Amino acid sequence: MPFIQLKNVNYVYPVREGASLKAIKNLSLSIEAGEYVALTGMNGSGKSTLAKLLNGLFKPTSGEILMDGVSTADEDKVFDIRRRVGMVFQNPDNQTVATIIEDDVAFGPENIGLPRDEIISRVDEALAAVGMSEYRKRQASALSGGQKQRVAIAGVLAMRPDVLILDEATAMLDPEGRDEVLSVVKRQNQNGVTVINITHSMQEAAMADRIIVLRKGRLAIDGAPAQVFSSGALRSCGLTLPPAAQLAAELKAEGFDLGAVTDEASLVEGLCKLFK
Ligand SMILES: Nc1ncnc2c1ncn2[C@@H]1O[C@H](COP(=O)(O)OP(=O)(O)O)[C@@H](O)[C@H]1O
Ligand SMILES: [Mg+2]
Repeated sequence: MPFIQLKNVNYVYPVREGASLKAIKNLSLSIEAGEYVALTGMNGSGKSTLAKLLNGLFKPTSGEILMDGVSTADEDKVFDIRRRVGMVFQNPDNQTVATIIEDDVAFGPENIGLPRDEIISRVDEALAAVGMSEYRKRQASALSGGQKQRVAIAGVLAMRPDVLILDEATAMLDPEGRDEVLSVVKRQNQNGVTVINITHSMQEAAMADRIIVLRKGRLAIDGAPAQVFSSGALRSCGLTLPPAAQLAAELKAEGFDLGAVTDEASLVEGLCKLFK
């Protein structure tokens, strides 16, 4: 059985008396343990709603989401699901709960009542995993955006999650902060954590094993980056190709087929092959 399974999921926001807004429409898909998925789509396509459905914050209006075989609508399991599916959000300044970094990372483990020794070892491990060990006694407010997001990830890792969802977690960062965060995420995925990275950046999406695109709450595209970029389907979802794939598409139109191009490395590879 897939690790995450959505079966005909619908989600409707009650807006006001008599009105409602269908944000997720008849969505069925599966994600295997250990996958690195990029979730993308235009503003309002339902990405954040889907993230909140996946970690049990919202329950499907109809349909079902199974997380490791357990329904997210199961009230007895909701805290377990939230622990197992960690979320990091866009604004690095809204995610700290304590002023000192190690206290911030300890917040989750303390909240679930773990013993002191266990909390300390988890905080040590989580801060090391994001490369923030030397900062543990510092004030969170003094950090860069990238460092704040790494601390937010450490807070999630201290709960030993199976799934890490980043909801545009790099959108407010400078390129350096973005790279720091993405390399931490990549390493977690290599350690077996399932990653769902919600992003508008096709360059970031290209780093995933799989790209899922939502359009108006529906599943529009689902495939490997090379396949998605070469299909020409992104445009109908209001999205553009990453620069390397765009250049490859233009060259292909001129009769130079570079093969599957997703990023700079595969672009260079394609060019070298072509001119050999
Ligand atoms: N709290 C809410 N109440 C009512 N409608 C909402 C709420 N949050 C989001 N929506 C609507 O649901 C749809 C999907 O939103 P969202 O999941 O935030 O999209 P995305 O994250 O892709 O930008 C949009 O039409 C949005 O306006
Ligand atoms: Mg969103």
